[in-house]
Amino acid sequence: MSWILTILRSSIGKKYIMAVSGACLSFFLLSHLIGNSVSFLGKEAYNSYASHLHSIGFLTYILEPFLLFVFLVHILTGITLFIENLSARPNRYAVPGNERNWSASTMPYTGIIILTFLLVHLLNFHFITRTVSTAELVRTTLSNPFLASFYLFSLSGLTLHASHGFWSLFQSLGINHPKYNKFLQQGGLATAVIIGTIFILIPLLIVTTDSFLQ
Ligand code: HEM
Repeated sequence: MSWILTILRSSIGKKYIMAVSGACLSFFLLSHLIGNSVSFLGKEAYNSYASHLHSIGFLTYILEPFLLFVFLVHILTGITLFIENLSARPNRYAVPGNERNWSASTMPYTGIIILTFLLVHLLNFHFITRTVSTAELVRTTLSNPFLASFYLFSLSGLTLHASHGFWSLFQSLGINHPKYNKFLQQGGLATAVIIGTIFILIPLLIVTTDSFLQ
């Protein structure tokens, strides 16, 4: 068991935990994105996808508790690393050229935006008593301009967080070579922008059209 404590105490170990938990969350995000993309095929297809999802008991009893655990690990380790970094660098970036890029330095703040989004999102779609279909629920909820704006803002934060997260994940897992680093960085950014844009299209189409999910 002592090796677990050693990993938890070391900075590299924590970065590894962030990478592995981040990879698990990325898989969830990707599968959630694919599921929600069915909404572009219309209301019937989206409702049929959602009812298939509900019929899989494995998701509720195994995958949801696992997802919650991974989220908690990612958040708590992230907070610990943030505090350690703050105390390790009292004179931040005293050496010119040592500044981190914008998406890297905003990671804790975009993380808070995602956490707030998740709480609101689960209250909107998960912790509710269902009286209408999933398509109707999503359409009605996101027709509220205030909530739609909040989704657009939060999903932009998610895009920024993921753009650095993907790159950081490669670094922490040792997938790193001067020859390919630019490609990995730009690939991470492109993947995050694609994911963010597809999610953003849903509230955007709801508030700007009368026909989406109708
Ligand atoms: C516009 C974008 C999104 C839409 C329309 C959407 C829609 C939904 C819906 C309808 C559910 C309930 C699933 C069901 O039980 O039928 C759900 C659950 C959930 N969503 Fe989203 N989602 C979006 C974005 C996101 C994002 C970006 C995240 C993560 C950062 C996320 C995380 C979750 C989680 C953790 C659940 C609970 C999982 C579960 O019910 O098993 N969603 N979402």
